[in-house]
Amino acid sequence: MNMRDNKKNILEKPFEYFIINNRRYLGSKTKILEFIQNSIDKHIKKYDSFLDIFSGTGVVANHFNKKNIKIITNDMLFSNYIIHYAFFSDDIYDEIRVLELLDYLNNLIPTDNYFSESFGDKFFSLEVSRKIGAIREEIEKVTSKITKREKYILITSLIYSIDKIANTCGHYDAFKKTSIMQNDFKLKPLSIDNESNVNNIILNADANKIIADIEEVDILYLDPPYNSRQYISAYHLIENLAKWDKPEVEGVASKMVNRKEYNSDYCLKTAINAFGDLINKAKAKYIILSYSDMAKKGNDRSNARMSDAEIIDILEKKGKVFVESIKHKPFSTGKTNLSIHNERLFICQTY
Ligand SMILES: C[S@@+](CC[C@H](N)C(=O)[O-])C[C@H]1O[C@@H](n2cnc3c(N)ncnc32)[C@H](O)[C@@H]1O
Repeated sequence: MNMRDNKKNILEKPFEYFIINNRRYLGSKTKILEFIQNSIDKHIKKYDSFLDIFSGTGVVANHFNKKNIKIITNDMLFSNYIIHYAFFSDDIYDEIRVLELLDYLNNLIPTDNYFSESFGDKFFSLEVSRKIGAIREEIEKVTSKITKREKYILITSLIYSIDKIANTCGHYDAFKKTSIMQNDFKLKPLSIDNESNVNNIILNADANKIIADIEEVDILYLDPPYNSRQYISAYHLIENLAKWDKPEVEGVASKMVNRKEYNSDYCLKTAINAFGDLINKAKAKYIILSYSDMAKKGNDRSNARMSDAEIIDILEKKGKVFVESIKHKPFSTGKTNLSIHNERLFICQTY
């Protein structure tokens, strides 16, 4: 088959696409995007830049990503950075080449590998985990022939595909012991809105370490973890797959032995100090903090790390503060039966 026939063949295949909101993620704001938009419309007339410094899945940044709005994303997890780069970068990429590679990767014949040895018969069946590892290994092998963005699009597709069939309730702290494992695993392309990606910046660092170096923005949106659960503990498998440096793993959930470097200050009892430092260094016309009111409602691990009084005290030193609130049932870790609570936005118009 010549290149032209192959191109035609690939394009004619009825693909389904992943959209950015398709991921299960603790603290994801997918379901309250409208509330965030309405609250911003109520308090802020005009904005051209939006810094989402704890981006997670990137759904909030995605919501505000327009041709005339520059978005800056950041997350300390490399796996999230890869996803943001795939969806928000303005690096050009060859869509046909990506489709051809997805097709090629879907048809690999898997053998045992690091991923199947670490996670087989746990989060995935042995057969599927062999395939996941084989695909990730092959992406590494083709790296020199493709661009950074193409590579990150392929890894993002892999992350979204495995999330669909993982034997979990949406995170990798634990796997379900009794369920039947799914074998219908397939990479799908991403639905990317390149038109909106103009001048965006994609970062991967501890927010407190980079805030002083980031240019002034119109809106700084903050959605830090609000309880003691470290994101690396819940998403270790995804981070491991994204980085692919095959670290030693331990325990039933096969978490990387060395996870300390990923620990967030916002999950500690001293979270308020990190928050104060961040606000102090921030340069923004408006600062918006998402913070739920879980305090003393769930178990000890799910209690909020910062009190409302502490938050308001810090924000009032920076500007005038408004609070907007909506009832919301969060996506929980499965261990705690969390009832409906208030998801709040603390909006600070800086002096
Ligand atoms: C509540 S989630 C954000 C959810 C996101 N708004 C969404 O809708 O998907 C918090 C995120 O902050 C990240 N994080 C935690 N501490 C951080 C820090 N010090 N600097 C940067 N990112 C951090 C975590 O990895 C996690 O993805």
